[in-house]
Amino acid sequence: MKIAVVGWGYVGASTGLGFKDHHEIIAYDPYKLTALYSINVLRELPAMSELVKIQQVYDVADLREAEIIFVCLPTPTTENGVDVSYIDKLLDDLNKSLDKGVVIIRSTTPPGTVKKYQEKYPKFQFLHNPEFLRERTPVSDFLNPDRIIIGGAHEDAIKKAMDVYKTFDCPKIVTDSTTSEMIKYASNIFLANKISYFNEMHKIAQIVGADSKKMSEAVALDRRIGHYGVYGSRPYGGSCLPKDTDGFIYFVENNLKHTPHLLKAVKHINDIFKQEAEEEKKK
Ligand SMILES: NC(=O)c1ccc[n+]([C@@H]2O[C@H](COP(=O)([O-])OP(=O)(O)OC[C@H]3O[C@@H](n4cnc5c(N)ncnc54)[C@H](O)[C@@H]3O)[C@@H](O)[C@H]2O)c1
Repeated sequence: MKIAVVGWGYVGASTGLGFKDHHEIIAYDPYKLTALYSINVLRELPAMSELVKIQQVYDVADLREAEIIFVCLPTPTTENGVDVSYIDKLLDDLNKSLDKGVVIIRSTTPPGTVKKYQEKYPKFQFLHNPEFLRERTPVSDFLNPDRIIIGGAHEDAIKKAMDVYKTFDCPKIVTDSTTSEMIKYASNIFLANKISYFNEMHKIAQIVGADSKKMSEAVALDRRIGHYGVYGSRPYGGSCLPKDTDGFIYFVENNLKHTPHLLKAVKHINDIFKQEAEEEKKK
């Protein structure tokens, strides 16, 4: 299948390079396809020569040839919430240049965003298909997911998405786009939640004079809990957990007029640990 990938950062490069052995890839990133050379994606590539298999285009109109357009653009969190303007602008350009197409949003977007795009641009068939990779191992995480989520309403688009992922051996969950967007936030923020929880438990263990390392090791042996995030004493960081936790809290408070008490506590605890870590560094 001929597929286009828009935005060649962590998610886009992993998607394009991960699919390249089974599909023809068109790459569109006017700003920095060369940035590929500086990120972990390359570390995982078997050979640089593989990159020549990818056709790079510089005009949105050239995406017309693709059966699927994967959108992997940034969605930073700002003081006004989650900024989806990179995607807005791309869709505006696509709307001017293409008559139809299957557009799969891989970016993390607030619940309801893709549904709104579908209503605004009915000539395209939209799906949401979140990514769960880690930046340290992006391509192998893309190729070995725990599950693939396909969110949308158009049967033809869903069929195409199932087809493009047919070599992936994992559960594939088909749902609506808003549920798909919720799945991404619920997963990421659970990890932030777990880290803040164990940071608090570690602090309490230290106060009571318990062996916090032993506590973690023993707790992690419970298969329902596992090892991720239980070892404590470092705030959550990286480019996704803080951004998505903050962005989702903003969305819930401002768009839904609901107070996410637990999520705010998760962030609050993290802020305290961040501040303590900074003070520790100054010593
Ligand atoms: N980094 C992660 O670990 C990760 C994991 C899962 C999901 N996500 C989500 O995926 C999305 C993308 O994240 P990322 O980390 O890959 O971002 P990134 O910043 O690494 O890459 C984004 C790319 O988009 C390009 N770009 C910007 N404007 C463009 C335009 N108009 N047309 C084409 N290309 C353009 C940039 O040049 C850049 O190469 C975000 O929503 C993020 O939250 C990220």
